[in-house]
Amino acid sequence: MNRTHYCNDVREELVGGRVNLCGWVNRRRDHGGVIFVDLRDRTGLVQVVFSPEQQQQNHEAARSLRNEYVIMVSGVVVRRTEETRNPKLPTGLIEVQVDLLRILNAAAPLPFQLDDEDVGEGVRFAYRFLDLRRVDMQRNLLVRHRALQSLRRTLDDSGFLEIETPMLTRSTPEGARDYLVPSRVHPGQFYALPQSPQLFKQLLMIGGFDRYFQITRCFRDEDLRADRQPEFTQVDLEMSFVESDDVMQLVEKLVSRLFAEVMGVELVHPFGRLTYAEAMDRYGLDAPDVRIRMELVDVTAIMRDTGFKVFAQVAKQAGRPGRQGAIKVLRVPGGAALTRKEIDDYTAFVAIYGAKGLAYIKINAPWQEGGWQSPIVKFFSDEEKEALIQATGAVVGDLLFFGADQLKVVNEALGRLRVKIGRDLNLIDDKPFSFVWVTEFPLLDWDEEAKRFAAVHHPFTAPMIEDFIRLDGEAGVVDLVRSQAYDLVLNGSEVGGGSIRIHDPAMQRRMLELLNIGPAEAEEKFGFLLKALEFGAPPHGGLALGLDRLIAIMLGVDSIRDVIAFPKTQKAGCLLTQAPSAVDALQLRELHLRTTLRPREESVKE
Ligand code: AMO
Ligand code: AMP
Repeated sequence: MNRTHYCNDVREELVGGRVNLCGWVNRRRDHGGVIFVDLRDRTGLVQVVFSPEQQQQNHEAARSLRNEYVIMVSGVVVRRTEETRNPKLPTGLIEVQVDLLRILNAAAPLPFQLDDEDVGEGVRFAYRFLDLRRVDMQRNLLVRHRALQSLRRTLDDSGFLEIETPMLTRSTPEGARDYLVPSRVHPGQFYALPQSPQLFKQLLMIGGFDRYFQITRCFRDEDLRADRQPEFTQVDLEMSFVESDDVMQLVEKLVSRLFAEVMGVELVHPFGRLTYAEAMDRYGLDAPDVRIRMELVDVTAIMRDTGFKVFAQVAKQAGRPGRQGAIKVLRVPGGAALTRKEIDDYTAFVAIYGAKGLAYIKINAPWQEGGWQSPIVKFFSDEEKEALIQATGAVVGDLLFFGADQLKVVNEALGRLRVKIGRDLNLIDDKPFSFVWVTEFPLLDWDEEAKRFAAVHHPFTAPMIEDFIRLDGEAGVVDLVRSQAYDLVLNGSEVGGGSIRIHDPAMQRRMLELLNIGPAEAEEKFGFLLKALEFGAPPHGGLALGLDRLIAIMLGVDSIRDVIAFPKTQKAGCLLTQAPSAVDALQLRELHLRTTLRPREESVKE
């Protein structure tokens, strides 16, 4: 007996015909002798019926069925009576009268019911193989599959070659810690798992491949969040003889086809663009959700001589770019209705991002008792109040939130607050998918702790040439150099990042110098790239999409764990396989390793 149909394909046209079906018992109901089973496979459900008139042994066997037993049935498709039709089920007009049942496997009692919405991730991940049978997970992985096929098709059609690059390699810096793999044959030496294929794809351009892509796993040992996994998938691509616009146009085509083919959604073209400076100025974040109808307004100039000392001091504070003092306002339309408790909660929220307070003004009508309500407005002159209204466009019923600190802190605190309030008060445009490019990222960022510059994107990103040449003539402009890097942002999430690369060896050496990487270290770590750049490297650039994030947003799920078949927990563990795990002492010896744990903590099996 072979399967003839998937469950969801059994429809009215098949009435009178015979079908053989395979799947899992989703539910069994006994109705005075007649046994109904909802049979499930990856396509859906169909009702199969065992009547007592049918062969006795079938009926006996049907009685023994429990949830998640695996069965095969053969029977005739019949129309359901009027009153037993189920309009909610695509197969609800028919049922299958079974005359042959084969139980292929039993199932132990389940740790949770598949239709229970409130199962914790702990149990779901430990029994991921059961969790994967749920309708949502089946749908998520199906959409992911379709997305992968669409992306491959478009890239292939656009002349890209799919080329694999090594997993056992040298460190590729993308700002996270490496996962290391000890070498048995080279005592004391380690491979690093790639944080991205960055250097290899550049070498492929130097190797003449012109257009490359790879859908590949990347590994980053960093603090995990809902949108970060220690291993995740990039749609990585690189092109020769291009400028930023070429890469961005190609990616827009790729993403637009993806949404059209997989979601039936036509995206608006071309995607909006913001420079990094604009994004920070108006939204406080480099991955803004532009659907939220609020913007930040800089009022530093207005507050320079104010009677509120905290603000006046901040307004005069000098510093490196981003570290100079600034005062910004977030105007919340209708926010005067916020309660004291809500304002306190928002104050606690911004404190997470380092804000020292969250002053506010409720813009009440002049005839309302007390007029404007605020802990600080008593310090403001009439001119200052008027200027605030002018700058923010506030009207009666609004609330102004103030952030005063280093610009970096203010942007982050108010930027996050904007997103939170936008969601809480539903001040979001009703657009399901809003893409925006953020361009002209700074090349370098001052790391206060390490007292040196770090690359904002990665050390191979090309600077904007008009900024870079200023480095030779002027002092103190390093902070101001912009790069040819661009991020793709979807609904306030960074779903892709890329840049035009440095293809000139001298410029690459200079860049490493700026990062405080001396010639010896540069040679040691990136000698192979520096050498390759000497042999006719074409101008090139590219981008990588974070596939997991993209799919999660397409599906409207909160965590990328829901679009990965076997994800890891916040602590980077796999609850299903119990990885990471202890290893044999012998294995460690072969790898020339010894842990520094004290014997009691030692998790090595002796
Ligand atoms: P970047 O580091 O910006 O660029 O990574 C590209 C995209 O990958 C996604 N991403 C992640 N997704 C899940 N979990 C993580 N831990 C994680 N880290 C990053 C993000 C991000 O936009 N080599 C460059 C690309 C290039 O320049 O071409 C790179 O890796 O969506
Ligand atoms: P204080 O004078 O400290 O009582 O603060 C008066 C109001 O200003 C309170 O609402 C504080 O939350 C707010 N506030 C204090 N410092 C800051 C700051 N750096 N940025 C924004 N608001 C602040």
